[in-house]
Amino acid sequence: MGLSTDNIRTIEDESVRAKQTALNLDQIRNDFPIFQQTVYGKPLVYLDNAATTQKPQVVIDTLEKYYSTENSNIHRGVYYLSEIATEGYENAREKVRHFINAKSSKEIIFLRGTTEGINLVASSYGRKNINRGDEMIISQMEHHSNIVPWQILREEKDAKLKVIPINDNGELILEEYEKLLSEKTKLVSIVYVSNSLGTINPIDKIIELAHEKNIPVLVDAAQAVQHLRTDVQDLDCDFLVFSGHKIFGPTGIGVLYAKEGILQEMPPYQGGGDMISSVTFERTLYKNAPYKFEAGTPNISGAIGLSTALNYFQKIGIENIIQHENDLLNYATKALSAIDGIKLIGTAAKKASVLSFVIEGVHPHDVGTILDREGVAIRTGHHCTQPVMDRFNIPATSRASIAFYNTRDDIDALVNGIYKVKKIFG
Ligand code: ALA
Repeated sequence: MGLSTDNIRTIEDESVRAKQTALNLDQIRNDFPIFQQTVYGKPLVYLDNAATTQKPQVVIDTLEKYYSTENSNIHRGVYYLSEIATEGYENAREKVRHFINAKSSKEIIFLRGTTEGINLVASSYGRKNINRGDEMIISQMEHHSNIVPWQILREEKDAKLKVIPINDNGELILEEYEKLLSEKTKLVSIVYVSNSLGTINPIDKIIELAHEKNIPVLVDAAQAVQHLRTDVQDLDCDFLVFSGHKIFGPTGIGVLYAKEGILQEMPPYQGGGDMISSVTFERTLYKNAPYKFEAGTPNISGAIGLSTALNYFQKIGIENIIQHENDLLNYATKALSAIDGIKLIGTAAKKASVLSFVIEGVHPHDVGTILDREGVAIRTGHHCTQPVMDRFNIPATSRASIAFYNTRDDIDALVNGIYKVKKIFG
């Protein structure tokens, strides 16, 4: 079935577009080799950035250089290569410190990603500080990785998990949050930007309210660091986690930030090499943070690659990124809202990157499959947020998520693909 040309929408002409962004998108897209390919004969339109982001050539080159000329184990060797690798790894820690404006690089722990970061806090801080009858607060829009670790802890400790509800726009109901806070609350763990709704939560207010009762707060910033300015001292959060692969770095590397005083009081999460100062069969003494929490050989190349990604990201500039992504989000929201039978899931006043939607009478997987044939990559499903799907009484959504390298042409391709879906499904 062919598409008639009246279904091919171009929302605004090129002269209007050129004024929309301070970014040099042609140059930026050239930095990412993956965009040079076609998919099913169509240009690749990558709109699954909430799942993972593409890598600029500088990051790929860094990994190649590391394995070609620097590969060795760190903190252990007295020889040239080990010193270079150790320096690269520790410089990466300092880069992350600077990126999130932590006070000290001792507050930066490298691990696999956001999921491992939350599990570390639940296993170490949680086991030590959360006891029978104590309460933890999360929200209805958490990713499963910010639900399940607390459920495991709840079962182990006979503790309670309280959930902040969300309204029909996908925003946290703050009055309900205030009601949940009590002297029994021992931890609040909240997502900064929702991966399935795009909501930007008022994280500063959430932290302020918890701190009034001396309750520590963990911020899941997996979907925030690549879209917003993140300053842990400004936020005054106690813990913050994010993943390298969602901010243009390699997979398998992530960051847990925690205030130094809290970290020094936390027991180790895993035991092994490089986290001890001495071992006998009778007694083992641990190193201080961050090393106490980095047992075994870490992801050295990942940390160094992440550092390059953060440099690249900072060169583009967060203000330019915010402006461009907001423009794309508004443009896409307008275009999708104009299509009959589409319902946006997640219409918060403050949003970043994510457009989740359902099309009347069409399963999201069919939407994803038809768009794929048009070269458009989106994610379909529950996005590891099944409670969000339950809240909106739907099994799944189609989700397009943008990054700074996306263009209005990408959004047009998405919109045209959706018209094709509608046409196929009558
Ligand atoms: N958490 C990632 C997503 O939202 C994988 O797609």
